[in-house]
This record gives sequence, structure tokens and C-alpha cells, in this order.
Amino acid sequence: LTATAIATALTITAGTAQAACDDGEIVIKFSHVTNTDKHPKGIAASLLETRINEEMNGTACMEVFPNSTLYNDNKVLEAMLQGDVQLAAPSLSKFEKFTKQFRLFDLPFMFKNVDAVDAFQASDSGQALLDSMQRRGLQGLAYWHNGMKQMSANKPLVSPSDANGLKFRVQSSDVLVAQMEAIGGSPQKMAFSEVYGALQQGVVDGQENTWSNIYGKKFFEVQDGVTETNHGIIDYLVVTSVDWLDSLDPAVRDQFLTILGEVTQVRNAESTAVNEAAKQSIVEAGGEIRQLNGEQRQEWVDTMRPVWEQFSGDVGQDNIDAAQAINA
Ligand code: LMR
Repeated sequence: LTATAIATALTITAGTAQAACDDGEIVIKFSHVTNTDKHPKGIAASLLETRINEEMNGTACMEVFPNSTLYNDNKVLEAMLQGDVQLAAPSLSKFEKFTKQFRLFDLPFMFKNVDAVDAFQASDSGQALLDSMQRRGLQGLAYWHNGMKQMSANKPLVSPSDANGLKFRVQSSDVLVAQMEAIGGSPQKMAFSEVYGALQQGVVDGQENTWSNIYGKKFFEVQDGVTETNHGIIDYLVVTSVDWLDSLDPAVRDQFLTILGEVTQVRNAESTAVNEAAKQSIVEAGGEIRQLNGEQRQEWVDTMRPVWEQFSGDVGQDNIDAAQAINA
């Protein structure tokens, strides 16, 4: 190998292995499942990593593992409780084993846009949910936004009846199972990392996701098209273990939480724009996007909305009322 080739190889290795942590630094491994580019979570995680490594150099060191390279979302919370990873940001749909209260966020047409989600999360009801899993060893630190979900399948979806008999991948949430059953589909829970292959091979016919995920994982390439339904949301809980957080010196914990809070504010303000850019990239890459008129969209609302009754006990009518008051 030439000297240049060796230098290049070393740079690439350093780049993928992240900033090597120095002896004595607190290592913060952050595992997530999405891509890093044109993605609200990917961008926020990278910014957090940069800021921690610059501002807490010598004290702490963050290593981000995107794209499910360390854990899938169904494994990461167990790994966190074992102390193998310190930070994650799974979608709110992935906490069913720990709390049923987050089911609120999966109820179809509960929130009209990300601003409504943000306002609910900032309310007393939303902030109380951050602490709802302490007994199970998990502490919510912040909500990170992704955006509104769209429907895609291997055939055009205009009326909800077009979904009859189709197999849909869903995240690990019983609300999403009920939602797909309401439109006559057969839902299948599956890890995010397996969705592209399952769509490509016809294991499932369709899925629901945000523009940034549909673009970032190229789902649009193996679907007939994407219908702009905005029927639900994907949002994240930045989460850690109670034990790890307690193990930090107060000053270190404060600095870490302050940086996290600032990154949250800056990046949440951009999440809608990031999804719009991803949507535009789908169009530019030749993906088909279908719009619904008011009457067509109302059909989706009428078909999915009855799912609320099944879960009002789990999420609490008070939470539903609080969310709806904000949405009004
Ligand atoms: C999914 O599984 O579809 C999403 O939760 C992935 C993600 O983290 O956005």
C-alpha cells in the first residue's frame, strides 16, 4: 500500500469507528436505527455527538451507532438495562413492554401536525410521561420529532378499502395492529431494519412511515407509491437508564442534559423542513406520491378513528382530552 492509501484507510476506519474515547472518559454509546442524512433523528444524533465530544472532551465521549448497526429497536432497551448502551431514541411506538401510556401517540388522527404533538409533550401531561417508566429502570430525557406518517403499498391506495387483504408491516405497537385491521389489512410487527427486504420480497405489501424514513431507507423504490395521508405521527423518546443517569456526577449530568436540551430545541424546530426535503427527494428520484382530496381523506379518518375506543383505557381519557384540546 502507498502512504496515501494507508492514510486514507486510517481516516475511513477512524470515521466509522467514531471518535475513539480517551482513557477515563465516560463512554456514552447511542444506538439508533435510522440513516443520518436528511433525517430528523439522524441529524440530531450527529449534532449531539459533535457537541458532547467538543464540550465535554476529557470528561465524556459519545459514540453514535446509526442504521441498527449496534441494536434493533426491539433489543436496545434490554441492552440499556444491562448497561451495554447508554442512550437510544426509539419511536414512542416501541415501549409497549414498559408502558401502555405512549399508545396515545399511535392513535390515528390524534394529532393534526407536529406542532400539536410538541405542545402536548410540553404540557404537564406530556412531561409526566417522561417519568412513567422509572419503576422499570428507564428515564425519558426528551422528545425528538420526526413527523407525520404516510401510507405506501405495492398498489395504489386511495380509499381505505384499497388496503383490504394487504399485509402491512407495523412497528411493535398493538394500536398500529388495530389500525391496520380497521382498514382490512393484515398487520405484521417487524423491526425497521427488515422492512426494505420484506417489501422487496413481498413478505409484506405495504407499510406506513414518515417521508424521511421512506426516503432514507428507500421504501418508495419497492412500493407502487406513497399516499399522503398524514394519519399519524412518528416521534421519539430519548431514553436512558435510571441507573446510568444516577451514576453521573451532578455537574456532569447537568452539562449533558443542558446540551441535550439545546440540541432538542434546535433540531425539533427543523423536523418538518427535514421531512419536506425528504419528500422532495422522493419526487426527484421518480417516486410516485398520491394526494387525497378532502372527501377521500375523511374516509380514512372515519375508518381508522374507531380504534380510539379500544385503547382509551390504556392511555387515559384525560390524556386524550388534553391532546384534543391542543389539537382544536
Ligand atoms: C420504524 O420502525 O418504522 C421507525 O420507528 C424507525 C425510526 O426510528 O424512525
